[in-house]
Amino acid sequence: MQPRRRKLGRFKLSQGKIYNLEKNKKILVTSALPYANGPLHIGHIAGAYLPADIYVRYNRLKGNDVVYICGSDEHGVAITIRAEQDGVKPTDIIDRFHELNKKSFVRFGISFDNYSRTSRPVHHETAKEFFKDIYDKNILKKKKEKQFYDENASMFLPDRYVEGTCPVCKNQGARGDQCEKCGSDLDQTELINPISKLTGETPVLKETSHWYFPLGDFQGKLKDYLDRHPEWKENVRNYCYGWLKQGLRDRAVTRDLSWGIPVPLDGADGKVIYVWFEAVLGYISATKEWAKQVGQPDRWKDYWQNPECKLVNFIGKDNIVFHAVMFPAILMAKGDYILPENVPANEFLNLEGQKISTSRNFAIWLDDYLDRFPPDPLRYMLAANAPENKDSDFSWKDFQTRNNSELVGILGNFVNRSMTFLAKNFDNTVPPATDLDEMDRELLKRIATAPQSVSDALEKFEVRRALKAFMDVARDANKYFNDKEPWHMVKTDKVKCGVTMNMCIQISRTLAILMVPFMPYSAEKLWKLLNLNGDAAGQNWATAGEPKVAAGHKLNPPEILFTKIEDGVIEAEMARLNDSQKKPESDGKKEKTGKSNLISFDEFKNVDLRIAKVLSAEKVEKADKLLRLEVEVGEEKRQIIAGLAQKFSAEDLVGKRVVIVANLKPAKIRGLESQGMLLAAEDANGEMSLVTVENEIATGAKVK
Ligand code: 2FM
Ligand code: ZN
Repeated sequence: MQPRRRKLGRFKLSQGKIYNLEKNKKILVTSALPYANGPLHIGHIAGAYLPADIYVRYNRLKGNDVVYICGSDEHGVAITIRAEQDGVKPTDIIDRFHELNKKSFVRFGISFDNYSRTSRPVHHETAKEFFKDIYDKNILKKKKEKQFYDENASMFLPDRYVEGTCPVCKNQGARGDQCEKCGSDLDQTELINPISKLTGETPVLKETSHWYFPLGDFQGKLKDYLDRHPEWKENVRNYCYGWLKQGLRDRAVTRDLSWGIPVPLDGADGKVIYVWFEAVLGYISATKEWAKQVGQPDRWKDYWQNPECKLVNFIGKDNIVFHAVMFPAILMAKGDYILPENVPANEFLNLEGQKISTSRNFAIWLDDYLDRFPPDPLRYMLAANAPENKDSDFSWKDFQTRNNSELVGILGNFVNRSMTFLAKNFDNTVPPATDLDEMDRELLKRIATAPQSVSDALEKFEVRRALKAFMDVARDANKYFNDKEPWHMVKTDKVKCGVTMNMCIQISRTLAILMVPFMPYSAEKLWKLLNLNGDAAGQNWATAGEPKVAAGHKLNPPEILFTKIEDGVIEAEMARLNDSQKKPESDGKKEKTGKSNLISFDEFKNVDLRIAKVLSAEKVEKADKLLRLEVEVGEEKRQIIAGLAQKFSAEDLVGKRVVIVANLKPAKIRGLESQGMLLAAEDANGEMSLVTVENEIATGAKVK
């Protein structure tokens, strides 16, 4: 039977433009919700965002009914630990990074239909509804268990609040929930030498109760589900089968924490829903929010509760188990939702041959990159070099080569040489294409098949291959131009030369449309240069390969599409990366005194301790723990940002002669530069005393 053609319809896309497109499939695409505890770096982008955006933009061009959802993940210990480290409230962190990341995504051209946040009421309600529904079906099990407790901080230590040595690979920095080195899923009580991330002390085991999701009960259904998807990427399938083989265990879906979504049950005071249980539901709540925004509050059901809808969750490899095992099991338990049709997970992106590290500040931060470069060259580099089947590497040198040899040298060169030739010899007007020769006909065939060759790869989420298929069109276009030698023909047969130039414009139009998913800004720039109606993103993929530019069409004056990047620029970036890198730290754990951390006299001599007088002290806005001090050190005045606000008032400090570390590298704290550190002592009860001197010794004096 012939598939039924669906009728042509008018679609209003999220950008508010109306396109005439063929109605086709419903596709709901999500990218992992990034934690709002820090800025985005290129590793995040290469993993879950750029591949999804390419897929989404491609499907919009195909006329599919796509909704692309994401948002900030704002709960869990990743947020609270960061807040504690900075001495601020979790809301200070999430508000800041939600806005920053949302803006960076827009600047980079990631075209979400909605970028929500898990702190929104719609999300809290959705998560509670799922939890309560699954509880009411008697699926959740309540269990008493012993969990690590920090007696100094009077707090249970869920997940990564405890660190220790991995029992599997002996990595010393394994977290309570997972070892990042070997990927083992851990129960925190298995850690060797557990240490509280809060105080550096050894925690004790204390009884608490939690609700568990019985993943094991879903083992059979999950296996069937996986078996039904042989098309999934091998890394995802292998990982999931590995989990199934080990036998799925019950997983606690509540935590003893004050930050998160309260457990909606009686007798669950002080407990919140486990972040991974609710974060994945953020995709649903963000779709509900989107439906409201477009004025059709029930429309989310057309996706989430419609078996005809294809749900695709783009993620990084560290999220596989939560999306390909846990999330489907939650959806199965709930019952009335579709399951992910695919979970394309990328591997990791390294940087200059090393692991990207947030704590060492060894990364290329997206907002920082965008302050100095346009988005498209990075989109191109990360797509061409996507860590699809194995980890890949970003180096500034490769970035320069890809930009200069491929974008400038191949794609930009073809467009530029064609357009400047037309401006010079044909008054910027497309000549007629009469009397095609064999080479012209071959070229038209080549353009006609180009969209399909890109589609073939994108339908399989193979972004690298798709981009290569696109660039091959530009390569063939350059070859055509070279073989035709229009610079000779223009002198001998201007009509024939005109045919060649007509072909060059047809192929430029095809390139502009096929470029949209990968480099949307350059695609629109090319579309404008070609002076065509509407915009490139509003075209139809199916007709992208047809020669649609009419003879006599007037082009805009040529402009270059991509800019060469000089060696000096790359050298400056490499130096910047090196300079901003912090040396490995002791992970913020407080060291105990003992033989293992003895230092030599020479090492001690390197610390420049000086007497300083506190001239003024004031609280830092929106930071509960921080004071901004002005101190006098000899002739010099310095600003020090110190975490003393909860222990001392300005009156306690002003006029005191204190001891400071004067040769500490300046650091930015809450945007303020701190030019040194005050010495203070704190006992086990949290009592704090400043190290002061009694007599009027001159400020600036060295402490020996
Ligand atoms: O790994 C992360 O950054 C998580 N915040 C991803 C969550 S994806 C989904 F569950 F929302
Ligand atoms: Zn390990």
